[in-house]
Amino acid sequence: MPRHKITEGAKLPKHVALIMDGNGRWAKKRLMPRSFGHKKGMERMIGLMEHAFDLGVDYITVYALSTENLKRPKEELGGLFDLIRNHFAEYMERVCARGVRLRVIGDTSLLPDDVQEILTTSQAKTEKYVGKGINVALCYGSRAEIVRAANIAVERGEKLTEESFSALLYTGGQPDPDLIIRTGKEVRLSNFLLWQAAYAELYFSDKMFPEFSDRDLEKAIEWYGERVRRFGKTDEQLGERL
Ligand code: IPE
Ligand code: IPE
Ligand code: MG
Repeated sequence: MPRHKITEGAKLPKHVALIMDGNGRWAKKRLMPRSFGHKKGMERMIGLMEHAFDLGVDYITVYALSTENLKRPKEELGGLFDLIRNHFAEYMERVCARGVRLRVIGDTSLLPDDVQEILTTSQAKTEKYVGKGINVALCYGSRAEIVRAANIAVERGEKLTEESFSALLYTGGQPDPDLIIRTGKEVRLSNFLLWQAAYAELYFSDKMFPEFSDRDLEKAIEWYGERVRRFGKTDEQLGERL
């Protein structure tokens, strides 16, 4: 017997994006340092990725560090870079083993050289995979991504269409996110996928990211399955829900 609606063939998002917010507050509540929250958050991120692929999702984008987060105290950033140094390669290898292409999106040149090397090596190992993907947004800002794409077009002297512009973004060639989940109680996008989110369904959870469980992800996907995506049309035109 199916455990939940998802296994009964409800509409599944192809691409889920996740704003992983609340690590710091989660740790603070437990009288632990913020770095402890980030460690738990990274472990949860891997668990959720595995679960999402098991459910049949094809693309997952996670917001791990924004351009604006680079203004955080040096110790916190150092702790985040150490997490990448100590765990990223192994964790990503585990998730990507199921045929998933890894892309790191954002201005990674702002990261320490050794961290950049780890990211490059991990991505290279997955280059052969097509059809399923993980985007890890690091030093990512959507406005910066848009300006970067626009500048590429200017340099090429290209007149843009929506399609050709999309292709110049870091997510070029991938479907837009269908579902964007933000944990941590805040109801905002914080400069994440502004262009790509045009028709995404937005789901906000009060849970802090380290406590966002596999079941919580299922609930968000079930909620997604109940949305009517009209893309500007009427219900009658869609021929459903008359
Ligand atoms: C999100 O958690 C992870 C990063 C931005 C690196 P936060 O670190 O923003 O946690 P809160 O919002 O302070 O609780
Ligand atoms: C958004 O979280 C960025 C990430 C989750 C990486 P923030 O904690 O930086 O967002 P704001 O500053 O509260 O909007
Ligand atoms: Mg936050």
